[in-house]
Amino acid sequence: MSSSPVIAAPHILKLLSQLHQISLEQEATISKTGKKVFSSDVLRDLEDKKSAKEPKDDFDRLMLDKFIALDEDKCQFTYQLINAKGATNVVEAGTSFGVSTIYLALAIARTKAATGKSGVVIATEKEKEKAVIARKYWAQCGPEVEQEIDLREGDLLETLKTDLPEVDLLLLDIWSALSLPTLKTVLPRMRPGAVVLTDNTISGAKGYADLLAFLQAPENAFQNMTLPFTNGFEMSVYRPEQK
Ligand SMILES: C[S@@+](CC[C@H](N)C(=O)[O-])C[C@H]1O[C@@H](n2cnc3c(N)ncnc32)[C@H](O)[C@@H]1O
Repeated sequence: MSSSPVIAAPHILKLLSQLHQISLEQEATISKTGKKVFSSDVLRDLEDKKSAKEPKDDFDRLMLDKFIALDEDKCQFTYQLINAKGATNVVEAGTSFGVSTIYLALAIARTKAATGKSGVVIATEKEKEKAVIARKYWAQCGPEVEQEIDLREGDLLETLKTDLPEVDLLLLDIWSALSLPTLKTVLPRMRPGAVVLTDNTISGAKGYADLLAFLQAPENAFQNMTLPFTNGFEMSVYRPEQK
């Protein structure tokens, strides 16, 4: 029997399970395997199509109404890890309709209460329409979720440049090509011992080649482990004092 660590009101748990279900159904319709979607694969397919004049624009249009939510078990693990670390400042790269964000908000609400520290979930989304819908789901959850989130709308390479607290955890759930530039933007604000979680690093390894090379270079001071969730979930601990 599987168990979930997530403590939340019944209406929030119900909403989360509905949103995960819709996300999986959507992904099955657009992925070649009928399973998970990898941004680098979808983009490559569009580039291969002769009809696609601007593959990047076609990709953005295709994704506009898609959740592509982080898998439920990975969301639960992230929630558990935030609790274990007592993390209160979290950056989420790639918010979409805000499913994983709900877990992050629930988790920091608990760690803030337990530690008395301040904290925030900094969420990021470049698509206005997606941001509106994310805010709607957070409002459905209620103030215990809504009040924990600072949603920065626009290109995260700009919106994360300023006003970052000392970051305890960075969740990279973004198109793979953006992941390294995002890490480099947040890195100066990362606390020793901060964790970077990156989704789909086994199946999406090709798209993540530059990020993984950066994380594995000894001079960048990350301790890495690929957690055996479906398609991989990379956990990288920042240890600058061991440089
Ligand atoms: C995989 S989805 C995030 C899913 C979300 N974490 C969840 O679990 O519900 C990635 C999101 O990143 C957004 N995105 C892509 N490029 C971006 C950029 N440059 N700045 C901010 N958001 C971006 C996309 O619009 C998309 O909604």
